[in-house]
Amino acid sequence: MSAASPIEPPADCALCPRLAAFRAENAETYPDYFNAPAPTFGDDKAKLLIVGLAPGLHGANKTGRPFTGDYAGDLLYATLEKFGFSNGRYDARADDGLILRRAAITNAVRCVPPQNKPLTAEIYACRPFLINQIDAMRSLKAVLCLGRISHDSTLKTLGMKAKEAPFAHGARHEVPGREIVLFDSYHCSRYNTNTGRLTTEMFEDVFAAIRTHTG
Ligand code: URA
Repeated sequence: MSAASPIEPPADCALCPRLAAFRAENAETYPDYFNAPAPTFGDDKAKLLIVGLAPGLHGANKTGRPFTGDYAGDLLYATLEKFGFSNGRYDARADDGLILRRAAITNAVRCVPPQNKPLTAEIYACRPFLINQIDAMRSLKAVLCLGRISHDSTLKTLGMKAKEAPFAHGARHEVPGREIVLFDSYHCSRYNTNTGRLTTEMFEDVFAAIRTHTG
């Protein structure tokens, strides 16, 4: 992507000592796993960027592709296919040949955090990669934030205040000075789908709104 290609964190990124230590520990326990910051997956010319929270230990941290192998990926990739944002078959592996169309997926934090909970300092430290990612996407029209942490980090990335764009499932927020609309959804995590906080229908409603917006 020419002048503004997104910068990915290096495999041995040391910005977050706790996450680097956890990565090293996981590399011992699971030597066959990816065990590095999971890079953005998707189309350079994407109109839609989906921002998750952080790789799951046995999902993106294993496969090296956001949401791939994670329980949350089953609903996300099925929905992307349903709304025409992917080609090919999702098979929970980074080499399944799946291609995203006009869409990309990244995470607010690129390394797997212990207990799936990144610290505020880690979200802050990883934000430059999100800023850079968004700035590089010249055709971007929509950002879908999965969950409040993604929403809050994306707001800061876009220079917006929490008060002007409160997180709510199904909410959409215009981004001042940019031709981007920010969409919110509850995270498609196992917890949220198992408890019924997020149903397939609710998730698809958000994607329907995004599809209408991105064309
Ligand atoms: N897997 C990811 O890559 N990100 C999430 O937010 C959850 C699972």
